Amino acid sequence: MSEFQPNRVISGFRPTSDLTVGNYLGAIRPSLEIQENPDNDLYVFVADMHGLTDHDPREIAPYRSEVVHDCLALGVDPSKTTMYLQSAIEAPVTQIANRLAPYVSVAELARTPNLKEKMQTAVRRGESDSDDALKANFGLLGYPVLMGADIFAQESGLVAVGEDQEPHLELARKIASRFNKRFDADLLVEPRIFAVEALRVVGLDGKGKMSKTNPSQAIMLTDDPDYARRKIKKATTAPSGEWNPVLDSHFLVAEHTTRDSGRLAELQELRDAHMLGRPVMGDFKRLWGDITQALLVDFQAKKNSIAQDEVDKVLEQGSTKAAANADRVLRGMKEVMGL
Ligand code: TRP
Repeated sequence: MSEFQPNRVISGFRPTSDLTVGNYLGAIRPSLEIQENPDNDLYVFVADMHGLTDHDPREIAPYRSEVVHDCLALGVDPSKTTMYLQSAIEAPVTQIANRLAPYVSVAELARTPNLKEKMQTAVRRGESDSDDALKANFGLLGYPVLMGADIFAQESGLVAVGEDQEPHLELARKIASRFNKRFDADLLVEPRIFAVEALRVVGLDGKGKMSKTNPSQAIMLTDDPDYARRKIKKATTAPSGEWNPVLDSHFLVAEHTTRDSGRLAELQELRDAHMLGRPVMGDFKRLWGDITQALLVDFQAKKNSIAQDEVDKVLEQGSTKAAANADRVLRGMKEVMGL
């Protein structure tokens, strides 16, 4: 029987780069809210094997413990939240994934938006041995199966991810339901998105999501605070009296970055003044710079105060717990399958 934990929420981060303020507000902060509700049992893991589907392993290796270090500095509390590396429990998770493979069709996997897009590029370029062809690789095809295995292995019915992950979860639900039906078992939980209010943060120039791939248009948590301030100074805004999605994102970022009621009131005044046609974008950027500086200074000091040993210990404890869950689920599957 399933040991399904009704309030267990799982969240996974691919360790592909340093974190941006956008990652913090869009992904880490929602996890902190989940963690602070004592009814929830939160698991946060580093999806390094998923990172391998589109990154060189040497590129992601350094970020694995870095992401955990960042999470701890931002307030993820290991006494409440279980943290682990996916690769630390690779054996049971991949065995679970292998046992699920017959219950999802290639056609279903090929419809995953991410893969579909990469396959089209590969076909357009028409070279079978090119880097583009390899972007649509076997790992990417199996991505949703491995993701399902992550979730089933921790017996978690709730997944804290953005809406963009819904196609993966939909497949995970299908796989769970087919497996359970086939073996007349109630073993795998059909996972649902745990709706979190996630902020979508655009780059400073408003072009696309804030991302490390465009470092001059992103605020990295590791940025020197003065450098961050200079980048903010050059951010795209809107003419006085006009509002646009870019300025909206910038204001929301500033508002969500601070908890200081005085600064929040100032931001509101600047919004109003801007809409009344007054030239306040310089003031806004100064204030946003101050707010960002406070976040970066706090974060960097906190991170420095957490030793690597401590990070390793958190991961060790988390992995032991996560491995035990995964082993139990795998045993259950082997039992009902008789193989
Ligand atoms: N696909 C997720 C992302 O890119 C990462 C991920 C992998 C994940 N496995 C997971 C998230 C399991 C939640 C649960 O963001």
